[in-house]
Amino acid sequence: MSDPQAVAALVLQLRQRLQNVIGTTIGKGGEGKTTVTANFAEVLAQAEQAKADQGKPSKPILYIELDSNGNGRLNFGVRGREFDDDGASFLEALTEDKDLQVVQGVRPHLDMVMSGSHNADIPTAVARLTGRHGNVSFLLLAILLAQISHRYRWILLDFSPGDKSIQRLGLAACTHLVAPMKGSDNAVIEGLGTLAGLVRQIRPLNAEVAIAALVFLGYQRRNDEPTSQLINLREKIGLLLDQAHITREVMVDAYIRDGETTANLARNHGMPAGEFARATAGQLVDHESNEPVERPRDENGRLVDPQRAVDIATDYVQVVTQVLQRVVQRNAELRGADAS
Ligand SMILES: Nc1ncnc2c1ncn2[C@@H]1O[C@H](COP(=O)(O)OP(=O)(O)O)[C@@H](O)[C@H]1O
Ligand SMILES: [Mg+2]
Repeated sequence: MSDPQAVAALVLQLRQRLQNVIGTTIGKGGEGKTTVTANFAEVLAQAEQAKADQGKPSKPILYIELDSNGNGRLNFGVRGREFDDDGASFLEALTEDKDLQVVQGVRPHLDMVMSGSHNADIPTAVARLTGRHGNVSFLLLAILLAQISHRYRWILLDFSPGDKSIQRLGLAACTHLVAPMKGSDNAVIEGLGTLAGLVRQIRPLNAEVAIAALVFLGYQRRNDEPTSQLINLREKIGLLLDQAHITREVMVDAYIRDGETTANLARNHGMPAGEFARATAGQLVDHESNEPVERPRDENGRLVDPQRAVDIATDYVQVVTQVLQRVVQRNAELRGADAS
């Protein structure tokens, strides 16, 4: 199918069903995509669970990682579980028209598609398809998600910049982008530039996707205020956004403070930040066994200080709240544009 009109008609059908798909990506590696996405998934799933507890309508969250390291499994402590197929079924669903296998209830109100080493075969499979059908093949993931998106409140896609075809699959499928910003000014700015370019390139297959929010991760907080490091970086990025005619509102006020040690401990324990914070305070109950979870210890066997864990968990709740406001606002604008 290379008839541009037919592609445009398909894209139109797909777009309406993908407004709840949020992608996390950035044109640089190791920026905290998986950490941020896993924590977003946790915060959003908890919010849906809270609605359910109050007898209100709720829907689960779906987390999908496209990266072949499948690190998201670590953040949720599910690597090597009986349902962990290293991404085999995801690859088949994507490229061989098999059913997408979703692991339900990885946490309350949180489902996950398993990823892993098989994801490394996605680029070759997609290249074969683009060879035969052209760029429309980059809509494969969008088509897959459009069939299940109504079952989910939000679908979170975590995809790396490592491979262009994977990034295109991801960009064609989501409506909103969250870009984690971590590390030196230059790395962050370069990453943002690359991402802006990729968003432009995907336009023919997805004219709606745009950066909804930048999430600053790993910056110091003193006396509850950001330090000059983050303030100056925001100013630099602000100027770039102005030039690119992107609203500065994408830079939400909330950010994730620095806490590499805590982040690594949480991942080693297979817990996102909120869960890890509750565990350090001795308040976590395993959702499957209903047993209290032992308080986590560091590599020296010492109990983890709850304060840092609670601080980071609190940051995530604030960041997710502000990012979601942006996403909801964008959706209202997109629907408004449809209506007029
Ligand atoms: N709050 C934080 N402060 C500092 N470093 C962090 C924080 N959260 C996560 N990290 C670190 O960021 C790195 C990025 O991890 P990851 O999420 O796997 O990135 P990606 O998915 O982009 O490759 C990890 O080494 C982790 O320890
Ligand atoms: Mg990752």
